Amino acid sequence: MDLFSLAAPFYDGLMKAVGHHKMIKKALGQVRIKPDDVICDIGAGTGQLSRLLPADNKLIMVDSSAEMLKKARKKVPSQTVKIVTSRAQNLPLEDNSCDLVFCIDALHHFERTGSALAEMKRILRNKGAIVILEFDPVDRKTRIMQWLEELAGEPGCFYSPDKLAAFFEKFGCSTAVVELSSWQYVLLASDDLKERRDAGGF
Ligand SMILES: C[S@@+](CC[C@H](N)C(=O)[O-])C[C@H]1O[C@@H](n2cnc3c(N)ncnc32)[C@H](O)[C@@H]1O
Repeated sequence: MDLFSLAAPFYDGLMKAVGHHKMIKKALGQVRIKPDDVICDIGAGTGQLSRLLPADNKLIMVDSSAEMLKKARKKVPSQTVKIVTSRAQNLPLEDNSCDLVFCIDALHHFERTGSALAEMKRILRNKGAIVILEFDPVDRKTRIMQWLEELAGEPGCFYSPDKLAAFFEKFGCSTAVVELSSWQYVLLASDDLKERRDAGGF
């Protein structure tokens, strides 16, 4: 069994203790969500981000751990939600099928991150946006986290904001980075950044 399937029963308690929701709210505040947007939460886990999204939007929650998704299902109104147990590197979703793609505190847990980033772009519609919350390896706290995760058998693949932005610029997106703290940042990628930036954000 993988780390998160084992951790699923304790995950929400642990996240509450570290104030995870504050960071998620800051990430969410960076992007403009429209009423008809189809939203995909990749590496959705127990639904810490998904539960904060507007209830009327169509939502797809993707995670490789069915145990984490079982917890997530209880947090969101099921009639608008599609639950997909899948790896981010090979999404069973149509091309151009989502307007917003979130990946919160999850990318560094993926193997073959390049494939996962390409998949995010593949499923994104024109004028949509990708929002990624990650940790900058330049900071000591990130490097300690990386060491601990690697000990637990995780990939621990952390990108600097510049490197992550370069991926999406190669795909033809404009990008913007917001530093949430000395080690946490949000990257926004879109072919229409101006339209997707929230007034209070970027
Ligand atoms: C630290 S949790 C973050 C969950 C949620 N986004 C949050 O902010 O609470 C990382 C999640 O990524 C998932 N994950 C790990 N590897 C994955 C992969 N290759 N594809 C999809 N999800 C994956 C794990 O199962 C876990 O639920």
